[in-house]
Amino acid sequence: MTITTDSLHTARFADRADGYHPSPVREVFEVSMQPNMISLAGGNPDLSGLPLDRIADMAQRIIKDRGEEALQYGSGAGTPELQELICEIMALEGISALPENVQITSGSQMALELVTKLFCNPHDVILAEGPTYVGALGTFEGLQADVVQVAIDEKGLIPSELQDAIRALKAQSRTIKFLYTIPNFNNPSGISLTPERRQEIVDICRTEGIAIVEDNPYGLLSFDGSARAALHSLDPDNVFYLGSFSKIFSPGLRIGWVLAPTEVRKRLQLAAEATTICPSVLSQMLVESYVSGFDWRAHVRDACTTYARRCDAVMEALELHMPEGTTWTRPTGGFFTWITLPAGRSVDALLQPAIDGGVVFVPGSAFFAEPAGANQLRVAFSFETEEALVEGVRRLGAAVAALPG
Ligand SMILES: Cc1ncc(COP(=O)(O)O)c(C=O)c1O
Repeated sequence: MTITTDSLHTARFADRADGYHPSPVREVFEVSMQPNMISLAGGNPDLSGLPLDRIADMAQRIIKDRGEEALQYGSGAGTPELQELICEIMALEGISALPENVQITSGSQMALELVTKLFCNPHDVILAEGPTYVGALGTFEGLQADVVQVAIDEKGLIPSELQDAIRALKAQSRTIKFLYTIPNFNNPSGISLTPERRQEIVDICRTEGIAIVEDNPYGLLSFDGSARAALHSLDPDNVFYLGSFSKIFSPGLRIGWVLAPTEVRKRLQLAAEATTICPSVLSQMLVESYVSGFDWRAHVRDACTTYARRCDAVMEALELHMPEGTTWTRPTGGFFTWITLPAGRSVDALLQPAIDGGVVFVPGSAFFAEPAGANQLRVAFSFETEEALVEGVRRLGAAVAALPG
């Protein structure tokens, strides 16, 4: 065997390096860029309705009037003005919070990493929905936590399954650190947790001494404009709430946050400072100007009307093009629907023929820590036009029809 510089280095990697795998979503992202490819893969927000001229003016004002502050290091927790605005936004979901309990991060992805770093030793257990957000699985596996997934149905996470999983893990003397959950318009399933189950799940976790990490980037993207009570509003001391401007404004600015009780928030800040020193001051100021100087809720309403129309188009096209026995979720908000093909059809075998036919999606197995989801896939309806989505589903249907079995 020839020893290259590369293999010398990789032999020195820490154990945790094995936990970092290429994200299936990022991998198909490359494919999405191919000409004439229709992407049902990435959960990109539609930015076409953003008032770009106004945002450009805001950016110019910030640099001209407050440039030395905007381009400087800032507070490790985030700017007090944005912390305050974030509290106003969270109030829309029944959360009553103090600005000093908000830690601003580079996207909620970083918030997820900080919380996991702070709480999880290698092989501590994190409970999560099955399926769950692939980016969360990447973070948990990278930090050597063990993920145990709990079944969902059309009402979201199943409380009795959660209770059974906790009992079984405790019987094996496993340490469960938290339940990671996406209660609204779940990525990837598109399902939302019902109000009754919210209370049940909060109660189970409190009784069992397990914290909840509530990841809620899609909560304000309901098609009918209604907002649901956050789990945090039901048990503020036991729920860490993760929020993001990525889906309601811009993912490129990389601004998210975590709301946590005082002592935890302070530790999160220390962990954040060890990673990035402080969140981007310029990005925070731009978000601040946008939220306080523009009717951002009207933009979100308009975007949701677009997402709802796109979702309807996908639902109709699935009806038309999917074989007998295929099922899919019917989201009332967010970006995704979750499709289950008749048993025995392999989605991994479907991916390449689908790409050859000009459509790409994310296979269901990406959203499970253990082998599962073999006949399932995620379809995103947030980014492509209605026409492209309909054609994409038609191409997908043709690839499914050509599958053996
Ligand atoms: C459920 C969920 N959590 C977190 C994130 C990360 O978002 P951010 O851009 O705020 O890091 C995403 C992005 O797709 C997501 O779907």
